Amino acid sequence: MTINMWIASFAWLCLVIGYLKRKERSVHIRLMLIGICTDIALVLYLQVTRSAVQTALKFSLTAFQQIHIGFSTLALLLYFPVLFLGIQLIKGTGSAHTKARHMVIAQTALILRTLGFLFMFSMWKNS
Ligand code: HEM
Repeated sequence: MTINMWIASFAWLCLVIGYLKRKERSVHIRLMLIGICTDIALVLYLQVTRSAVQTALKFSLTAFQQIHIGFSTLALLLYFPVLFLGIQLIKGTGSAHTKARHMVIAQTALILRTLGFLFMFSMWKNS
């Protein structure tokens, strides 16, 4: 595995453990923030060093690799409403629906991120 795959695995593990610890507010918040920030930083790094988005748009990758990029991109986009609603929950400034919205969007993001994580291994090269 490349160092980037290890970093992506670490971020995914933080998200999964943070989800399992969702009833322990402070542990949940910390692990989710570490996982999300690591994911965003990794994507920015890959974009700067390898023009990841341009490579994806060239459609020169295999179907599995495209699927990996598709799921991961959708998860990444959902992180922003998840963060926004999570911060509202912390501040207590949301409405009666904030928690339900947070749960639905965040769980969707986690499922997409998990699928993206599994398809990431199609990027694994032996050389
Ligand atoms: C993909 C990431 C995330 C997932 C899958 C997720 C999922 C969840 C779920 C399912 C709950 C409900 C727990 C219950 O059963 O009571 C919850 C609660 C909560 N989440 Fe997240 N979350 C994520 C990210 C975040 C982030 C980034 C923050 C903060 C910025 C956050 C803040 C909170 C807070 C404060 C609660 C407690 C709400 C309450 O009990 O009133 N979450 N989360």
